[in-house]
Amino acid sequence: MATVKVAIAGASGETGRSIVNALLESSMAKFEIVNLTRPASLDKPINAEMKSRGVTIAPAELTGPQDKLIKLLSGIDVVISTILVTDRDDETRLATAAKLAGVKRFVPCAFATVAPPRGVMKLRELKEDTLDHILKIRLPYTFIDVGWWYQITLPRLPSGRIDYAIVVTPATQNLGLDGNVPNAHTDVRDIGRYVARIIADERTLNKKVFVHNEVLTHNQVYDVLERLSGEKLERNYLSEQEVTARIRKSEAVLSQNPEDIGAAMERSIYEYLLSWGIRGDNVPEYAQYLGYLDGKELYPDFEFVKFESFVKDVLDGKGKGVYR
Ligand SMILES: NC(=O)c1ccc[n+]([C@@H]2O[C@H](COP(=O)([O-])OP(=O)(O)OC[C@H]3O[C@@H](n4cnc5c(N)ncnc54)[C@H](OP(=O)(O)O)[C@@H]3O)[C@@H](O)[C@H]2O)c1
Repeated sequence: MATVKVAIAGASGETGRSIVNALLESSMAKFEIVNLTRPASLDKPINAEMKSRGVTIAPAELTGPQDKLIKLLSGIDVVISTILVTDRDDETRLATAAKLAGVKRFVPCAFATVAPPRGVMKLRELKEDTLDHILKIRLPYTFIDVGWWYQITLPRLPSGRIDYAIVVTPATQNLGLDGNVPNAHTDVRDIGRYVARIIADERTLNKKVFVHNEVLTHNQVYDVLERLSGEKLERNYLSEQEVTARIRKSEAVLSQNPEDIGAAMERSIYEYLLSWGIRGDNVPEYAQYLGYLDGKELYPDFEFVKFESFVKDVLDGKGKGVYR
């Protein structure tokens, strides 16, 4: 079996960890993994844990001298970025170094929902900026979007019994329109397993790929949780005008103070709600229209975590929250 050398920037994060786990367990190929961690993050416990599992931990200053970065990437087959979206400049530098080092495939940090390239979500526009750069420098790439994570979709239960495993946001506590807009979901733990398939697959080179587990409306998410928990949920429906007004409100705060992280997060989460909960962007049909390959067609045998089984685990106390 051929060995594929993969370098990952952001390997210690949620998406990055899913990818590392899957590559280490994959039977698609033998993957050799380099974790390009920021020097300041070298002592993160997760890095020690990855090292014990055979991952090479390489301090990489993406803003540092280019020749150092090129040296780090020499001999690497695939570079994957899962770094925070605010670090677009870092990612652009990483892409340029990958091109100069002769990397065979670059996977930028998309890993988000399907949305129009411009005009609806600021976060999406940053991701598209990186893609524009990749195309400009003719770097071989695969752009992967994954739908909305199960782990950030469940609303609070009145009893508080699933608080340990959920992330409460305006997009969990409010439903767009009448709650019947379809939205593609994925378990974050499956993302790495999709990536292992995609990067070992020549059909996905220089393509956009959309993978997802299940399409569910917001009402269906609430219905499943109500049925399995036996608890009743309040449903707070928001119109397009209401969501847009909240986006404008956070933009006004940001125009006074661009460093206001709370306002930036709020804008981003309402933009997501506008995109997938109102416009209905995050569905396989729209992905196909935008030119993505469909993961369901590429990998019909892929066994994913079902939404109901995810919810049962969370209710049974066996869930694991993200960003803990
Ligand atoms: N589809 C969805 O529902 C969904 C949900 C959440 C996120 N996402 C997407 O997934 C992407 C990755 O997000 P994530 O939540 O997996 O990442 P995360 O857990 O926040 O981790 C990001 C990693 O990036 C590295 N990093 C580089 N520069 C950084 C900086 N300035 N500050 C903090 N970390 C930095 C860190 O690794 P080192 O410290 O080792 O350098 C960190 O562990 C995001 O771009 C986001 O759009 C999608």
